[in-house]
Amino acid sequence: MSSTESLRKDHFLIEKMMRALNTTAELLKAGKSIPAPVLEQAIDFAKNFTNACHHGKEETSLFPTLQKNGMPREGGPIARMLFEHEITKQLAEKMDASSKAYIQTNDASTLIADILTYTDHVSSHLSKENFRLFMMADMILSGKAAQMNKELADVEEAKLKDLGKTRGHYEQLVNDFEAEMTRKA
Ligand SMILES: [Fe+2]
Ligand SMILES: [Fe+2]
Repeated sequence: MSSTESLRKDHFLIEKMMRALNTTAELLKAGKSIPAPVLEQAIDFAKNFTNACHHGKEETSLFPTLQKNGMPREGGPIARMLFEHEITKQLAEKMDASSKAYIQTNDASTLIADILTYTDHVSSHLSKENFRLFMMADMILSGKAAQMNKELADVEEAKLKDLGKTRGHYEQLVNDFEAEMTRKA
């Protein structure tokens, strides 16, 4: 087990959602309509699973542990990742607003652009973590994997409990969303 296993599992789920969202953008471009409850699933996942739960795990557990083990907070990868989390949040807000506007007006152009900006940013963020920060973390925290994953699981449980949701709920949400996109494609 690696120290970042729990976070890499989240990335796997988030990446699945990014692929499905790219299909959403393709469908909208092709003039297909996406119903409000389906778009709301993607927004729920972006705000609650990715921002609150996953970024929460990194910000309250992984990053402080790395700092305690000698990685500087300022001027290094942690500062960069925190900055990117902030951008992710802003892009999710934009996507939420353009999704509501699309439901009102049926004009998909802004929503298509916002979805693509969002998935681009998130995919690049995840790959930086997978191939840089998490590799450094796995080295720095080698021997502490069980403790680290236990802490990450505890933060995850607390964050999802605050939302009244479970991990199973979000795994199902991504499966359903992906199935809906495949059905429409
Ligand atoms: Fe992150
Ligand atoms: Fe991450």
